[in-house]
Amino acid sequence: MKKEFKRTLVTCALPYANGPVHIGHLAGVYVPADIYVRYLRMKGEDVLFICGSDEHGVPITIKARQQGCTPQDIVDKYHRIIKDSFTGLGINFDIYGRTSSAVHHANASEFFRKLYDEGKFITKESEQYYDPEAKTFLADRYIVGTCPKCGNEGAYGDQCEKCGSTLSPEELINPRSKLSGAEPIKKKTTHWYLPLDKYESWLSEWILQGHKEWRSNVYGQCKSWIDGGLQPRAVSRDLDWGVPVPVEGAEGKVLYVWFDAPIGYISNTQELLPQSWKKWWKSEDTKLVHFIGKDNIVFHCIVFPSMLKAYGDYILPDNVPANEFLNLEGDKISTSRNWAVWAHEYLEDFPGKQDVLRYVLTANAPETKDNDFSWKDFQARNNSELVAIFGNFVNRAIVLTHKYFDGKVPARGELLDEDREALAQIPALRASMEANLNEYKFREALKDAMGIARVGNKYISDTEPWKVAKTDMARTATILNVSLQICADLAIAFEPFTPFAAERLRDMLGVGLEAGTDHRNGEAVTENTYREGECAALHTIPSTAAVTLRWDMLGGDDLLPEGHAIAEAQLLFAKIEDEQIDAQLARLDRIRAEKEAEAKAEAARQVVPQKEECTFEDFDKMDIRTATVLEAERVPKTDKLLKLTIDTGIDRRTIVSGIAEFYSPEDMLGKQICILANLKPRTIRGIESKGMILMARQGDGTMRFITPQEVLCNGAQIG
Ligand code: 2FM
Ligand code: ZN
Repeated sequence: MKKEFKRTLVTCALPYANGPVHIGHLAGVYVPADIYVRYLRMKGEDVLFICGSDEHGVPITIKARQQGCTPQDIVDKYHRIIKDSFTGLGINFDIYGRTSSAVHHANASEFFRKLYDEGKFITKESEQYYDPEAKTFLADRYIVGTCPKCGNEGAYGDQCEKCGSTLSPEELINPRSKLSGAEPIKKKTTHWYLPLDKYESWLSEWILQGHKEWRSNVYGQCKSWIDGGLQPRAVSRDLDWGVPVPVEGAEGKVLYVWFDAPIGYISNTQELLPQSWKKWWKSEDTKLVHFIGKDNIVFHCIVFPSMLKAYGDYILPDNVPANEFLNLEGDKISTSRNWAVWAHEYLEDFPGKQDVLRYVLTANAPETKDNDFSWKDFQARNNSELVAIFGNFVNRAIVLTHKYFDGKVPARGELLDEDREALAQIPALRASMEANLNEYKFREALKDAMGIARVGNKYISDTEPWKVAKTDMARTATILNVSLQICADLAIAFEPFTPFAAERLRDMLGVGLEAGTDHRNGEAVTENTYREGECAALHTIPSTAAVTLRWDMLGGDDLLPEGHAIAEAQLLFAKIEDEQIDAQLARLDRIRAEKEAEAKAEAARQVVPQKEECTFEDFDKMDIRTATVLEAERVPKTDKLLKLTIDTGIDRRTIVSGIAEFYSPEDMLGKQICILANLKPRTIRGIESKGMILMARQGDGTMRFITPQEVLCNGAQIG
């Protein structure tokens, strides 16, 4: 049976405050969550929208060390950048808090302490890497060494970024501390663990039996974790940045970032609503929904719920609509490689075009599989969908209303079939959109909204009011009345997806919007909450307009009454020109070229592994000598082979060598080289080759021949 809820608490994964957010984050988590919240608010539902920065964890300490500043400096900087990006894109949380806040530290400590006091943790002693010079334990990321899989000398203790292998520090060859360069030693340490194995059967019942409706990617990941058997998870770390473990004798230990971060959802709610936060977290009639990316599934579906269960009296998520990943121009988005479109840069490069990004990221949302963002698609969707369909329709309806009816909604006469057919499609599209939004299918919901714009655009093209106006003003009035009603439908339907354009459209139509409640109701507003006016729209705008739209009016009969005055047309969406797209593509090309050059240089530095041992006798068999190239020519119909005539001091002979990729025949003429003289002759492409030219091969495959430091006589023996 479907559960009835009174309110919805929506959380978004707290982004790490060690870098800005990019389009992958936006498409995966924040844009869909904002759509959902706006939709619920328009329906008049009671919603709270919570997010904030995740300000602990090892990567932040590494960045601080690299930049010669404190971790607090790093999180202060990125907290501001990220918060501004969200505001800029109209993603209006009720609070955007921080896990370095005093409220969060107190709350996370209390959470840990209760579980500790009630014996919900186990302790384990283990051996961890320790830097004897810096006198500190080392997180896996603080240990570097050679990757056993690909030979990369800069692999981390948890991962090799070159070949992508997941590693443990034990696997690294020649491990070194990133702090001091010292060789780490193993040292005993004690940590607290949440025994997830004890929650396994409860999790199985709750998720595998109770939440079969979850997205298949989410359900599938949970199933494979549970079926694979859950292990106790450490909830503390030896580190000096984070929430200190609130237990005597735990100096130098902090809560593991993945223990404290999800508690941050609760802390941020407390900060926003110190009096009434419990209603949102502890009432069974609150629906909790976590929006996250697929890399966070285990923490939100297995670990955090087990923590909440262990604590007791908290509600659990009703759904966790996790998305897959978004790629950029066919390649995985990567912060370290700067392969991303950064939200704050987009806002600078495309001022006033927040909605275009929101639209494209929703139309291509990676809901069921990884998806790709490309600038050409971005341009095409703007120009041929937002501009050519939505914008064009609205513009025609409003301009013609001003031209023929002085900017007043004209009277509707008797409806013809074509009018009825157009209008009849809208309730059906609304029903589909609602079903899709209720099931977190935002791509499909956006298609439905766009379907309404298509209906309007086709209707006005088919009915041609600009032609009808020459002979029949009453009919023109009806057509424009119908068209304006559809414009009003669009001003409702697009509010969740493109809120800035929806607001511009409402301004043109001279209407307001009713949308939800402000939960701050007199409670303390802290510096992390959005100040009034900072939110672009929703739950703080009292409408003073004569006509106020509501979600339940969508697809209805008379949204705009006859005689209602509308404003002049303004541009809803502007065409994006090639130059703007080319500039973005050129930026990506530069990044790609820089990375390729770096990768090439790095590959060239890689040393090919040593061959297996040979004996002196093996070596002594080889007759290596100096020789000079007398003639050189390409072997016909091959790319790689040169035919060389050489003077070996013993004789004049032919050697066929695969070096044409690196040397032209002219390069070789007259060069003194080294050869293996007594290699058994072989016939290559019909040419007998007697011997082999010695070449030095680098890690990237490039080759150079070996030449004596001074010119020697031909036939000088090497060895
Ligand atoms: O993956 C991440 O970016 C994490 N900072 C998400 C944390 S979500 C929650 F648990 F706070
Ligand atoms: Zn590797």
